[in-house]
Amino acid sequence: MSKSSSNSIGPWGQYPDTRPRRNRRHDWSRRLVAESSLSPSDLIWPLFVQEGEGASTPISSMPGVERLSIDRAVEAVGRAVELKIPVVALFPATPTELKTDDAREAVNPDNLMCRAIRAVKEAHGDAIGVLADVALDPYSSHGQDGLVQNGYVVNDETVEVLIEQAKVQAAAGCDIVAPSDMMDGRIGAIRRGLDASGFEHVQLMAYAAKYASAFYGPFRDAVGSSANLGTGDKRTYQMDPANTDEALREVALDLAEGADMVMVKPGMPYLDIVTRVKQTFAAPTFAYQVSGEYAMLTAAAQQGWLDGQKVMMESLLAFKRAGADGILTYFALEAAELLR
Ligand code: PBG
Repeated sequence: MSKSSSNSIGPWGQYPDTRPRRNRRHDWSRRLVAESSLSPSDLIWPLFVQEGEGASTPISSMPGVERLSIDRAVEAVGRAVELKIPVVALFPATPTELKTDDAREAVNPDNLMCRAIRAVKEAHGDAIGVLADVALDPYSSHGQDGLVQNGYVVNDETVEVLIEQAKVQAAAGCDIVAPSDMMDGRIGAIRRGLDASGFEHVQLMAYAAKYASAFYGPFRDAVGSSANLGTGDKRTYQMDPANTDEALREVALDLAEGADMVMVKPGMPYLDIVTRVKQTFAAPTFAYQVSGEYAMLTAAAQQGWLDGQKVMMESLLAFKRAGADGILTYFALEAAELLR
């Protein structure tokens, strides 16, 4: 949040006594009066993992982003540690043959995700936090985040599976569990499930205000769920982009249910939500600059239409200005390099 939180414009003088450009004249002065700042500690790096060894697969809709086998992911996380990035968020590209209607691979304690969590924690310990996404879409044959019955994603039955998924991830050693599924009541249910299994220290970052967005397309390519989802969408559980008040209700519920941190997603088109959530609840608030946002900026930069580094840094700073305490971004490594 910006240093000046007052809404009043104040008793400023008039031109020519007042010349706002004076403060902007020199770089040192611009730095002095800057209200927001960006540091590597603000960044969470989403990382896609795949099976294999020494393997990596480019994701065509996200130039510069690759899925990495666990050994390569461990190395890459080492880079994030050096750059002082506080958290890495892992996402699995589950082999197609393991995807089922009931997404049972999600609760397999030896699934790709859990093996990746264990390997990263073994290699890097508490030098970096590991965030694990909770939702069924990387494991389901239909690409939905929950269980489907008669064409509808059922809530309470899904929550039961999500509790088990969170528990296997916690047992594998993840530090933060991040439910991205948007089922009702899942934060409280997962909190109780974790606590009952001795994981009361595992933090919960709720994807609290997550919208049914077309900006997730490239992510679904990355985890291989777009083909499964087909023409389906997630509008019966993710939020309508038309709504703001509803975001506040979602955040209020998740905080009441025990969320330690809340998230708004997508990012850039939803900065108004970030600001309103931060101002209303004063809770740790994060924004996810999602795959489609990364794709847009990167594509324009590749065409030479935008200066890639500049728009990257400007977009990340804009999240801070809007009130975010941190940003999940595929640019995390590149931005942290520049911030060194
Ligand atoms: C899983 C999940 C999604 C994203 C994060 N977790 C996809 C979705 O909800 O369809 C999207 C992230 C991105 O687009 O970068 N539920």
